[in-house]
Amino acid sequence: MMLISHEDTRMLIKGTVDKNFRADVLEGMASSPREIPARWFYDRRGSELFEAITALPEYYPTRSERSILLKYAGEIAAMAGPGRAVVEFGSGSSAKTPLLLSAISPSAYVPIDISGDFLRESAQNLGKMFPSVPVFPIEGDFTHPVALPPGIQGTRSLGFFPGSTIGNLLVPAAVDLLRAMAETLGEDSMLLIGIDRIKDPAILIPAYDDQQGVTAEFNLNLLCRINRELDGTIPVEAFRHLAKWNDDHARIEMHLEALYDVDFTIEGYDFSMRRGETIHTENSHKYGPRDVDVLLRAGGWQPLADWTDVDGQFGVILAATSRSGASLDESV
Ligand code: SAH
Ligand code: AVI
Repeated sequence: MMLISHEDTRMLIKGTVDKNFRADVLEGMASSPREIPARWFYDRRGSELFEAITALPEYYPTRSERSILLKYAGEIAAMAGPGRAVVEFGSGSSAKTPLLLSAISPSAYVPIDISGDFLRESAQNLGKMFPSVPVFPIEGDFTHPVALPPGIQGTRSLGFFPGSTIGNLLVPAAVDLLRAMAETLGEDSMLLIGIDRIKDPAILIPAYDDQQGVTAEFNLNLLCRINRELDGTIPVEAFRHLAKWNDDHARIEMHLEALYDVDFTIEGYDFSMRRGETIHTENSHKYGPRDVDVLLRAGGWQPLADWTDVDGQFGVILAATSRSGASLDESV
């Protein structure tokens, strides 16, 4: 008997594979160097593995950001004011969201994520925790402007973008994303964003190459996803996880390295990789405090306040759209 997973069933019902996934993988695997955008890590298993990463002793960003939100939620709430619709980009498990929602009395919560099933389950759990807050999950790609539900159009909103997910984009794409967010959120909006700071590679590398091998599994799961969703024949055991610090670009890079020469197909297309050749699967850019200000301003946001943890590892910044920011700050 052939067992069909829940995810396979969903794809059979949908009748199609995600065309963007297919295009990104086929194009990225044919390019030199080979690269696949990090957003494709997040099928259900990828989302679960990311959650496991957040609990690892080496992965400091989640703990650092949580400590900031715990300590400063009151200050953030005072600056944002009550009644805003909270729109979270890349909400995942929404595990940090209660720290914000319980402080700011929101009018609604709109989590946006590309990982649909995981998003809906997380949204349901959050709805149970905050029964008086309407929750409108949106499955989608946040790099494009997203139409908010009719119920909250015209409401002032607070974008929430924790986890340093912005670091997974190249700088020009990060600027475009900030602009798309301003468009999604509308006039008079604010953005609360978490951004990881540049630090000693001796701390960074283990955070992306943990002893238990969870990050390795997260990275390798991309190959399993390609095999399952794009009819691939990649021998997953022929690859190993690599994490390295790229100082010129101030980023951690994750790659999958072929341990020996391999041939495989994806959707019937032939690929050959030589031993030592890699697929670049993720960038995780780190920013200094002043870089963050430049990035936000370039993206159309005026930084209003920032907070860090006791060790200065991670930053959380509150910003306003330049138009509303202009009355709070100098307008240049
Ligand atoms: N915000 C959570 C999760 C971060 S993991 C935290 O701080 O812990 C990154 C999340 O962003 C994942 O849930 C992933 O599915 C989502 N994601 C990544 N790229 C995306 C994109 N382009 N559009 C929508 N969601 C995306
Ligand atoms: C979601 N994102 C910000 C994580 C990061 O730190 O870049 C994804 C991740 N990759 C490996 N570990 C965690």
